[in-house]
Amino acid sequence: MSSQRLCVVLVLSIIVFAESIGEGCNPSDLRGLNSFKAAIQMDTSGRLEKWVGHSCCRWEGIICHNTTGRVTKILLPGFISSDQFLFQSQMKGRLSPSITLLSYLEVIDLGGLTGLAGNIPPSIGFHLPNLRKLYLYGNNLTGAVPESIGKLSKLEELALHENRLSEALPPTLGELRNLKMLHLYSNQFSGVIPDSLTNLTNLIRLDLHSNSLSGQIPDSIGQLQVLEELDLSNNFLSGKLPQSLTNLTAISVLYLDTNYLEGSIPFPSSSGQMPLLGFLRLHDNRLTGRVRPNFGYLVSLQRVSLANNNLCGPVPSAVGNLVALTELYIGGNRLSGQLPKSMGQLSRLLVLSLPHNLIRGPLPHEMSSHQNLQILDLSFNRLNLSTIPEWLAALPSLSRIFLAGCGIQGRIPEFLRTTSSPIQELDLSANHLSGSIPEWLGSLSQLYLLNLSKNSLVSNIPESVTSLHDLGVLDLHSNKLTGTINQVFQIGQRFPDGSLTYIDLSDNSFYGGIEETGIAAQRGIQFLNLSKNSLEGRLPTAVGALISMRSLDLSYNNFNFSLPEALGDVSLLETLKLQENHFTGAIPKGFLKLRKLKELDLSHNLLVGEIPAGKPLSDFPESSYSGNKGLCGKPLAPCL
Ligand SMILES: *[C@@H]1O[C@H](CO)[C@@H](O)[C@H](O)[C@H]1NC(C)=O
Ligand SMILES: *[C@@H]1O[C@H](CO)[C@@H](O)[C@H](O)[C@H]1NC(C)=O
Ligand SMILES: *[C@@H]1O[C@H](CO)[C@@H](O)[C@H](O)[C@H]1NC(C)=O
Ligand SMILES: *[C@@H]1O[C@H](CO)[C@@H](O)[C@H](O)[C@H]1NC(C)=O
Ligand SMILES: *[C@@H]1O[C@H](CO)[C@@H](O)[C@H](O)[C@H]1NC(C)=O
Ligand SMILES: *[C@@H]1O[C@H](CO)[C@@H](O)[C@H](O)[C@H]1NC(C)=O
Ligand SMILES: *[C@@H]1O[C@H](CO)[C@@H](O)[C@H](O)[C@H]1NC(C)=O
Ligand SMILES: *[C@@H]1O[C@H](CO)[C@@H](O)[C@H](O)[C@H]1NC(C)=O
Repeated sequence: MSSQRLCVVLVLSIIVFAESIGEGCNPSDLRGLNSFKAAIQMDTSGRLEKWVGHSCCRWEGIICHNTTGRVTKILLPGFISSDQFLFQSQMKGRLSPSITLLSYLEVIDLGGLTGLAGNIPPSIGFHLPNLRKLYLYGNNLTGAVPESIGKLSKLEELALHENRLSEALPPTLGELRNLKMLHLYSNQFSGVIPDSLTNLTNLIRLDLHSNSLSGQIPDSIGQLQVLEELDLSNNFLSGKLPQSLTNLTAISVLYLDTNYLEGSIPFPSSSGQMPLLGFLRLHDNRLTGRVRPNFGYLVSLQRVSLANNNLCGPVPSAVGNLVALTELYIGGNRLSGQLPKSMGQLSRLLVLSLPHNLIRGPLPHEMSSHQNLQILDLSFNRLNLSTIPEWLAALPSLSRIFLAGCGIQGRIPEFLRTTSSPIQELDLSANHLSGSIPEWLGSLSQLYLLNLSKNSLVSNIPESVTSLHDLGVLDLHSNKLTGTINQVFQIGQRFPDGSLTYIDLSDNSFYGGIEETGIAAQRGIQFLNLSKNSLEGRLPTAVGALISMRSLDLSYNNFNFSLPEALGDVSLLETLKLQENHFTGAIPKGFLKLRKLKELDLSHNLLVGEIPAGKPLSDFPESSYSGNKGLCGKPLAPCL
């Protein structure tokens, strides 16, 4: 072989080798990618810094066609998972319009690169005719969805959710006949839902929730025959629910809650409509009318919320057909009558929530079949459960029981003592309970919330409460309870910050002082109300350790001594009410550190001296300081 021939062969094989590994990327693609890179100032994933040279098909996140060599995919998602960890990367910079130079693109995935700003290139529709998937969600994009988007005739998936996109949705979206998924949720879109969207007959998922869309839901929505998930919740939609919704034969998830929708609910007119509907949310609207028996045609329903509307009439007996139901929320309406016996057929129920209605008793005994029920909220109805039915007490899985304002009489029900259910939340407030808080309450070892407020309970708080290790919320206000309160501050002390976040013992007859020990270990308390008791003595310096506290009310007691300087360390404090006590001395200078204070009342004490000068103390009205022995300075008269 002559050296000349050898040389030719070598050169040829280098060319062939270079071709096969994508050396010499298409110039237009290369220019587009380099401009994309140039508009990014920071890429925490480090992927872009390795984009050097000309072989763009070998760059991380770039995929080329194996014969034409043109770039078909940009895959740079923000969530990068490896075997060990999942990591969210950031790209600071702007999305360059030059990505439209990559005219053979089929997939763009730049989802979840928090920080990527800029607009969707206005001409995108004219340049990327092969685009099938466009993922630009979870960035920081602004501006409108460009009208040209409708030209992307092969587009199947468009995900622009979780950006700051705004303005009205372009009606041209309705030209994307191959679209299967349209996710525009959590942006700032306004205007109406274009009627043209109902032309997208291949759509499987349509999610526009959490925007500012107004106007009506298009009447022709029922044309979307393969639509499985429709979420229009948390917008400003008004008008009636279109009857055609019941024509959505494939629908499984339908969320229209938190809007201004009105009129009656278009339940199916025959069985077999919406046969797969499993998840229905219509709560927080202005819906009226009855829950018609046709509700019972929706036999696949698992979770339903119709809460906080204006629905009336009885719960229909046909509800018993919904045997797959696990969660039913219908509180905050004007539902009346008795619950139907057929409720007993709902044996899979985990949650039954119907507070704030006009439902009458007695509860049907058939409900004893709710063996799986975990959460029961019957509060504030016309149930008159003067005694709690035995079967209810025997439900084995109940862990959250809300029976406020149910007309319950007598002592705290004994069944709580013997139940084997793991009770975590118990609300028996606003009933007619009398007698004492029993010692055995301390054995409800999983209790997190206890609300016995607004009853006629007498007695002390039993020492056994200290064994309620998980108690977070304790509301005993407006009873006739007495004795001292320091045992409360011993609760949850096996946690480094205590477990308690909310304590309301106000409007009772507690007496004695607050001990310095104990209170310092309750760094989790956010709300403490001891108002309207006969508590006395010093406000311990240890309150300065309650660093989570937002609201402290000790008003209408007999606390005396001077105010602790350390109270100024409770820097999150927004509400401080100490009026109608016998606090003496001056207002500590430390109070000037309470920069979040919005409500202050120190009136009717024995305070003297100058109000420390400055915000926030000078911003409160005179009435916050009135009725003291000798306070002066802004906002009161100057000191002499
Ligand atoms: C090119 O890709 C197509 C589809 O991805 C594949 O079927 C084909 O075998 C590939 N050709 C070569 C030469 O790798
Ligand atoms: C998004 O942009 C706004 C305004 O330019 C900026 O304040 C914000 O920090 C950005 N968010 C992220 C996650 O970069
Ligand atoms: C739906 O598509 C048809 C046929 O292309 C068209 O005539 C009609 O105007 C479209 N409807 C809407 C509301 O855009
Ligand atoms: C529902 O679909 C049927 C059959 O396609 C049609 O006749 C009817 O008009 C549709 N109903 C509504 C309210 O759109
Ligand atoms: C509630 O029921 C009890 C016992 O059945 C009855 O004595 C009482 O009058 C009823 N109260 C109301 C307000 O209906
Ligand atoms: C306890 O019940 C009363 C009356 O029902 C209610 O006003 C209060 O908000 C409840 N407390 C807590 C902490 O939920
Ligand atoms: C504390 O309780 C009293 C009496 O129950 C009530 O009037 C007052 O508003 C409560 N304080 C706060 C800050 O909620
Ligand atoms: C505070 O009140 C207690 C009991 O009412 C009394 O013994 C004590 O002297 C008072 N102390 C001051 C400084 O007012």
